[in-house]
Amino acid sequence: MARIPEHTIEQIREANDIVDVVSDYVQLKRSGRNWFGRCPFHNEKTPSFSVSPDKQIYHCFGCGAGGNVINFIMEHERLEFISSVKLLADRANIQIIIDEAEPRKKDDRASIYNMHEKACRVYEKQLNEGSGKAARSYLLKRGLTEETLKTFRVGFAPDTWDTVTLEMMKLGLSKEILNRSGLLMSKDRGGYYDRFRNRIMFPISDINGKVQAFGGRIFGEAEGAKYMNSPETPIYHKGRTLYGLNLTRDVIRDTREAILVEGYMDLIRLHQEGFQNVVAGTGTAFTSDQAALVKRFADKVFVCYDGDDAGKKAAQKAGLILLDKGVDVSIIALPNGLDPDSFFDTNAAKDFEKLKKESRDFMSFVLRSNAEALKSPVTRTSFLQDQVADLAQMENEILRGMLAGQLADELNVPEDAVMNLLSKLTRRARRPQSSRPAAKKEQARDTMLRRPQSGSEKAEFELLRLHLSEDESLLNWLTSTIDDNFIKELHYVEIFQLLQGRLRKELPINHSRLLDEIESAEIRRFIAHLITEALPDLESISHAHQCYKTVRWWSIQREMDKLNILIREADSRGEDFSEFHRKKVKLQSEQQEIKPPLSL
Ligand code: UTP
Ligand code: MN
Repeated sequence: MARIPEHTIEQIREANDIVDVVSDYVQLKRSGRNWFGRCPFHNEKTPSFSVSPDKQIYHCFGCGAGGNVINFIMEHERLEFISSVKLLADRANIQIIIDEAEPRKKDDRASIYNMHEKACRVYEKQLNEGSGKAARSYLLKRGLTEETLKTFRVGFAPDTWDTVTLEMMKLGLSKEILNRSGLLMSKDRGGYYDRFRNRIMFPISDINGKVQAFGGRIFGEAEGAKYMNSPETPIYHKGRTLYGLNLTRDVIRDTREAILVEGYMDLIRLHQEGFQNVVAGTGTAFTSDQAALVKRFADKVFVCYDGDDAGKKAAQKAGLILLDKGVDVSIIALPNGLDPDSFFDTNAAKDFEKLKKESRDFMSFVLRSNAEALKSPVTRTSFLQDQVADLAQMENEILRGMLAGQLADELNVPEDAVMNLLSKLTRRARRPQSSRPAAKKEQARDTMLRRPQSGSEKAEFELLRLHLSEDESLLNWLTSTIDDNFIKELHYVEIFQLLQGRLRKELPINHSRLLDEIESAEIRRFIAHLITEALPDLESISHAHQCYKTVRWWSIQREMDKLNILIREADSRGEDFSEFHRKKVKLQSEQQEIKPPLSL
């Protein structure tokens, strides 16, 4: 990877005052030492977004967003670290001299992006020429306007073997890149031909609007499936992309609501009819990566799939995946036989608005679209089992339980029975799948990074906060007092490890550099929160010591709780529990020495 030298990054950061940069995007008002405004990352009426010129960081008390000036650009412009640094360098007229260590992989990707942009232009041009004209009038007849075709850069791949190939050959790229681009097919005897022929072409862009793939709809006499999509390439991963999001993300972010549809045509039509907060899948079943992507912009998603049985099933699947990611879900039911696009052949925007108003929450939709199955006790039972099996796949335990409760309620089945079935199936669902531990870990991390709730979490939070102090004697106290054993059982274990590790390298910690180096956006936000909460008056060894004792008191308490359970279990089995008891007594006396916990 091409690297920008650390000192250049430092220089760029210094040349871009965070208040100035944020002011380019957000109206800020001064209050005391800090500046406040309405958070650009979530929808709010009262300003809870603060920018600190002293610390050069921003933090939103509402949604938790936070970081330094580079992170702000990354989040606001949806750019990678390097591109954000480049943007800020431009802004401050600083020239970047890059160490060209290993630029190959990046170059490959850049070349493939370039190929896609070139191909997109070829297809756009072809829509107005020769056989493309027929495709164009077909699209216009289907109700799309000239302007819409331009906005979405709809094009046409003519029925030839080399229109795109010839264009690509001009770029002088390596065989390897041509092979991996997804735009060309290689011939047995060497050479290439066009992958897409005689198809209406819908370019798929990444979130910043760079074309990265295509969906090609059959037209006339083409062979093969109705839609032919680009394969996975170095720049395109189907399950992680949402069609249209590059054009609709700002409207979605403003309203915090999105409409999810299945097809390219559906998205384009809805957009044209004035529903601009829309996203579509890319020809595969909706994935949890796509749910995570939409969650960055929306809190609520209206799922609007085809009105037939297959569409209802798919809507239910997508709905559950969204719910599991913590997105609110409503499902819009279209009349049987219609998809969002064809709905507008005979209806107007206000009719769709009405359907949207009548949309239902997830479980009500599921029950209504399976009304037939609910009629007899036998089909009702198997319906219930199927639904509970689906719920058991969810990671979100609380939501899973609530949906099961709703199901029991609506079906008039004792809640216990449903819950028992759920926990049985959940255990089964968890066991075999290898992807589970990772997802579990992610969920555990979500829980870990929440704001402190209990007294012990608050004391931990205080201790963590002190790690970011500039007082060297305090920092030395922290590194010499806190050890791995102490951290091991804590709520914020991961953050403790991070900050302790950091202090071993640099003391005090450089906040901005720390924020740059943390890859996880969630952890970055958490650290920004810690930095914002700094209270210089409370930065003393005696305060640290109080917090330390409180944390220790609570972790002893937790250890004792565990021992109590072990003692009770051993006792009920008639086994010897004296070892547990000895440990408990020892902990008890340690706890008494600490005295009751400080309340924070
Ligand atoms: P549909 O078959 O519903 O097509 O597929 P459509 O979008 O309504 O297109 P029109 O109205 O007939 O022109 C919905 C989506 O499923 C994917 C595509 O993403 C398509 O937009 N799909 C469909 C494929 O990937 N391959 C196929 O063969 C069919
Ligand atoms: Mn359609």
